Amino acid sequence: MADTVRVLDQQNAPFNLTDYLAAKKAVVEAALDQSLPIARPEKIYEAMRYSLLAGGKRLRPILCLSACELCGGSEAMALPTACALEMIHTMSLIHDDLPAMDNDDYRRGKLTNHKVFGEDIAILAGDGLLAYAFEYAAAQTQGVAPQNLIQVLARLGRTVGAAGLVGGQVLDLESEGKTDVSAETLTFIHTHKTGALLETSVVAGAVLAGASQDAQAKLTLYAQRIGLAFQIVDDILDITATQAELGKTAGKDLVAQKVTYPSLWGLEESRRQARHLIDEALGALESFGEKATPLRALAEYIVERKN
Ligand code: FPP
Ligand code: MG
Repeated sequence: MADTVRVLDQQNAPFNLTDYLAAKKAVVEAALDQSLPIARPEKIYEAMRYSLLAGGKRLRPILCLSACELCGGSEAMALPTACALEMIHTMSLIHDDLPAMDNDDYRRGKLTNHKVFGEDIAILAGDGLLAYAFEYAAAQTQGVAPQNLIQVLARLGRTVGAAGLVGGQVLDLESEGKTDVSAETLTFIHTHKTGALLETSVVAGAVLAGASQDAQAKLTLYAQRIGLAFQIVDDILDITATQAELGKTAGKDLVAQKVTYPSLWGLEESRRQARHLIDEALGALESFGEKATPLRALAEYIVERKN
């Protein structure tokens, strides 16, 4: 996309998404690096840090910080939760790549965790990151009303478990190799496996800031629409992008005979649906005015991204 979106930020300067993403990413990278110092036994900390600090778009933490600031909170209030979201996302990818699941060799342009540290340590690194995410958000968050923090922690738990990521992953595994997976089942998989954590990233930021129910409802709608669009684009990129662009193996869905949105709808219709969802997401932000410029630009980025 054009880096400079047509809207202006609060100082009436053109909003530059590339600069915004770079600044937020730098904050998140520094916080993640500090969050997990090496201790004894070194091997497990090294394995956790290997995947946690392997780069990535840091989309979930950035969405959390942006939503918190949109709702009148500060970046500092949301930073521990933002890191926890990335810890959870990272652990889900470590486990997803295991031989028992997708058996993948590359992630974020590097060998997968189990390829470097072995399966036993990779499983434990995922477990360690999951537990630490909750410890870190609970212990490090400051300046947030306790009931809002508890709400966020409870929501994080629900998002990770059978009602969220785990449930979506199970249905995904069960659907592999089947040719009769419906669009409804596919949407269930993605709203749970990917959508739930994206939605929680946005809504957690709002809750930490003490946002009204009305603002939370609008941001929920925004997050649900960008979550599904994100997955449709993921399916498209699996077909159209190279391994170098993706930082992970390309064309895997076809090899695994996975039903995807392009396999159900074709590439052109999938692109149209993703665009439609982004337009709906933008509609949900209307009443926030200029303040929502970063979240608008992030929605556009999700459909325009190349990895
Ligand atoms: C990538 O999907 C995987 C996910 C988005 C999450 C998978 C969830 C789990 C493994 C459950 C983890 C356990 C807990 C406790 C949260 P993909 O395989 O479609 O995409 P890829 O091409 O990036 O691998
Ligand atoms: Mg996978």
